[in-house]
Amino acid sequence: MPWLSIDDYGTSGWQLAGDFLWRARHYCGELEKGEILFFPAPPFDLPKSEVDFLVSLKPADSRLHKNISYRPEQDLLRGLADSSNQTRVQDIMRRYAAAVKSFISAFLAPYAGKFQIDYASFRPLEEEGRDLPLHKRNDLLHVDAFPSRPTRGGRILRVFTNVHPSKDRVWIVGPRFPELASRFAEPAGLSKFASGSTMLRGWIRGLGTLGLPVADRAPYDKFMLHFHDWLKENPAFQTTNDGKEQLNFPPMATWLVFTDGVPHAALSGQFAMEQTFIIAVDALVAPEAAPIRVLEKIAGRAMD
Ligand SMILES: [Fe+2]
Repeated sequence: MPWLSIDDYGTSGWQLAGDFLWRARHYCGELEKGEILFFPAPPFDLPKSEVDFLVSLKPADSRLHKNISYRPEQDLLRGLADSSNQTRVQDIMRRYAAAVKSFISAFLAPYAGKFQIDYASFRPLEEEGRDLPLHKRNDLLHVDAFPSRPTRGGRILRVFTNVHPSKDRVWIVGPRFPELASRFAEPAGLSKFASGSTMLRGWIRGLGTLGLPVADRAPYDKFMLHFHDWLKENPAFQTTNDGKEQLNFPPMATWLVFTDGVPHAALSGQFAMEQTFIIAVDALVAPEAAPIRVLEKIAGRAMD
């Protein structure tokens, strides 16, 4: 199986009596090592009427943005052109984000209280045949890194649901981060990124704590942004079939994946919901599999 199918957790919580913490820890470890956790239906409340409403929105409603995005911490909705739907869509996204957050706190209990909830999105456009600049193309394999939100080693966990009424969402995934990095991190220029002066970085961080506006992007964040683009630009990596698998996610399937460690590309599919979390390094159960630790081992120096 290209994923690990979960049958002991559902909308009413754990399906087994007794101590479930060891199961939660097991699933965290599998995820961190690059496994994709699969549920045939959302393991949290996602009312059909709300999904139907999102899917019914005209494409013009999101013409300015490729996605409708929602920032739970600020209760901020972006990407909707028709403001008459603003309140309803915002209510739907607010409830969705809260439901996924409760689910993650219970299902992945070792992370509870140690994650930051990032943006949620509704993705209304067909992925196949989109005309996008190379670095923004979703159909090229990449690992995720956010230009506007450096994580300094924190990991990017994403929860996706295919809400198309009848069509699969089709992904390709590639070799997991330890193998990917061992083959490509040095050719991509890791040593150049890892060699930033530790003394200078300490000084910059000091200015930040004084409240001065300084760009505090760790060598890790700089490398991951570069690596995202470098992988998309690399025809040898994009065209080889080495270690690649196709995954077809059926309607209403829900899957969890650390997208900073699993190279992925969306080939086709329309209508998906997604919620992102940043998991702190000290909450990880398999920190040695975290991209920052993998890169530090290769580079022989700290990158945070
Ligand atoms: Fe991605």
